[in-house]
Amino acid sequence: MKPLGIDPQHCLIDGEWVSPANGEYLQLVNPSDGTHLCEIARGSAEDIARAVSAARKAYDTEWGATTALQRSRYLARLKDLILQNTDELARLESIDVGKPLTQARADVIALARYMEFYAGAADKLHGQTIPYLDGYTVYTLREPHGVTGHIIPWNYPMQIIGRSIGASLAAGNACVLKPAEEACLTALAFAELARQAELPAGTLNVVPGLGAEAGAALTRSKGVDHISFTGSVNVGKEIQRNAAENIVPVTLELGGKSPQVVFDDADVDAAIPFLVNAGIQNAGQTCSASSRILVHKSRYDEVTEKMAARYSSLVAGPALKDLDLGPLVSQRQKQIVEDYLKQGADLQTVAVGSIHPEAPEGGAYTAPVLFAGTQSDHILAQQEIFGPVQMLLPFHDEDEAVTLANATDFGLVASCWTRDGARQMRMAKKLRSGQVFINNYGAGGGVELPFGGSGLSGHGREKGFEALYGFTTLKTVAALHG
Ligand code: NAI
Ligand code: MG
Repeated sequence: MKPLGIDPQHCLIDGEWVSPANGEYLQLVNPSDGTHLCEIARGSAEDIARAVSAARKAYDTEWGATTALQRSRYLARLKDLILQNTDELARLESIDVGKPLTQARADVIALARYMEFYAGAADKLHGQTIPYLDGYTVYTLREPHGVTGHIIPWNYPMQIIGRSIGASLAAGNACVLKPAEEACLTALAFAELARQAELPAGTLNVVPGLGAEAGAALTRSKGVDHISFTGSVNVGKEIQRNAAENIVPVTLELGGKSPQVVFDDADVDAAIPFLVNAGIQNAGQTCSASSRILVHKSRYDEVTEKMAARYSSLVAGPALKDLDLGPLVSQRQKQIVEDYLKQGADLQTVAVGSIHPEAPEGGAYTAPVLFAGTQSDHILAQQEIFGPVQMLLPFHDEDEAVTLANATDFGLVASCWTRDGARQMRMAKKLRSGQVFINNYGAGGGVELPFGGSGLSGHGREKGFEALYGFTTLKTVAALHG
């Protein structure tokens, strides 16, 4: 296994592929069949320290001296290289994450699109002039933080690299990326493409390893000026605590329990594919997955029946077979999901999909499950499961719909399905959520659309132009010239 010809046991530090300092390695497993894929570096605090100082050096020298236009052209070159390697990147993501090939391909396209978007945005990020007292000229400068640390999860490595590294590089930062120990082949491949795009040495460094080791070292480093993290709530808390020691800003994207609200006047047939896909895409291992389907009582039976029909045709199988769902990322994730399923014993099981008969024994497969219930405080209606599990809940009127939709500690994504324009506007205001979709869900995942949460879903915004503000700091310049 040599992603884009490189040795996956290496880290990219200061423009070179190097062995981890302690000579230790982790095993990468193919979740579709449980077989060993390859060894990856078990990066340590020492590797992180080297990566951070390489990033600092790049920032203080060649990379820090680039113009916005030059950065834009580096990113455009990366976009071309990504697209030239679409098939290989999709295959790597598919076998590593367990993602059906079509979904992995879509992630490659998204990664390229992030590079394209931030290539286009790099030279459009500017400050303002501020009218002030007589004799002054005042303006603001948008400046990079310096060195940014990026800790990403295994569910969408390419998409999260795109939104996080793409925006940070465009803004002029040098980056240290710690991919997830479960899946990091495309992070390594991306690093190789950055080398091929001739980004100055140290501009992008990639150190695989365990969260508690390499990840924690990155969040404690005094050489890091900003941290962006996508992953679990508990690790997000720890990262925010570590960053507090050095007063470093953090962007946290911690998942959700996102609702879709189906009103009595909804176009149910248009809604059904969105209701289901938002729950089963990437086997439900999606931060913006929709796990709660709230339905007005007058349409409840109809929605239940139509979702159930779709569920009974859903099949999970090997990622390269490209079915509706692949396996979960690991046996550990499968265990987490199965433990949740046991807690749904008191709910009504409306429908269960199937596992392909040829799915290998050693794969981490879970059939998708649609539950129904009335208790919004049920653990399955409150906690992020991160598996293909959705729950239907009925409501009686708009007020109750809002109350139920907002009745978790999360606030990442929400949608409402209604033809009533006034209600659409009311719901958009009342839903506690970083994104609200009206008569759709996810809007195709557009890279242009700012994304992030409130409550336990985290804070800060990624994606779109907005992300560039998070990856920069603002300087005010006031000149007294008389
Ligand atoms: P996790 O939060 O432990 O892992 C995400 C990343 O954080 C990985 O790169 C990991 O190495 C790193 N990490 C772990 N501990 C760290 C630490 N102490 N300091 C710095 N970095 C650290 O998530 P995990 O264990 O893979 O999944 C558990 C649950 O987390 C899932 O079931 C799901 O509910 C949630 N999750 C949410 C994601 C999202 O997209 N919002 C993504 C992945 C997981
Ligand atoms: Mg963990």
